[in-house]
Amino acid sequence: MSHIDAIDNSLAHLFENNRAWAKNVSASRSTFFSDLAQQQNPEYMWIGCADSRVPANELIGLLPGEVFVHRNVANILVHSDLNCLSAMQFAIDVLKVKHIIICGHYGCGGVAAVLQNRRFGLVDNWLRHIHDIKHKYTPLLNAQANGTESINRLCELNVIEQVSNAAQSTVIQDAWARGQSVTIHGWIYNLHDGLLRSLGLEVSQWDDLATQSTQALQRISTPTQAK
Ligand code: CO
Repeated sequence: MSHIDAIDNSLAHLFENNRAWAKNVSASRSTFFSDLAQQQNPEYMWIGCADSRVPANELIGLLPGEVFVHRNVANILVHSDLNCLSAMQFAIDVLKVKHIIICGHYGCGGVAAVLQNRRFGLVDNWLRHIHDIKHKYTPLLNAQANGTESINRLCELNVIEQVSNAAQSTVIQDAWARGQSVTIHGWIYNLHDGLLRSLGLEVSQWDDLATQSTQALQRISTPTQAK
């Protein structure tokens, strides 16, 4: 027992959970932690919402070490965010991930706050990026049957726009210019059934972007489409 173990801890139950988790993982694969400590070798980077109900590696059935994760409020990827861009640059240049998955989720609180013009504080400034998307697609959003549908459409539009932002980033542009294979995917997650849907975006070169974005927009603009 080290001196650290003797410190009072109001979150002791989380440490207990952690010990149980580590024991279970080791029991199912004895070299798990020693392998993981040697290196991380993920093929995927996940850019998703910070929402606690969207656990990145779990919902795609991957273990820690198999997906490199970046999360922020409302899965926004903007060109001035050095945090997200640095994570992407490290993932692509150093870890050599092959896929960037940008995953939104229906019912996103950040997206809903924008549509409902709600104020929360500092985060409102971050969510201005979604206000811009709302303004860009006002006719499409106004055509929705109700508030929930509008929120869900804006969640989808947000993913489409963030895929476009990713494709235009210097990080991706440089990777493609040197012939590195990186594909950007646009997905959305449904909290109600735990299922992911692709928005039909699989951008692996610059020329894919315009066509695929147009097709994705057409799909979500079609009212008969099952959502
Ligand atoms: Co969210």
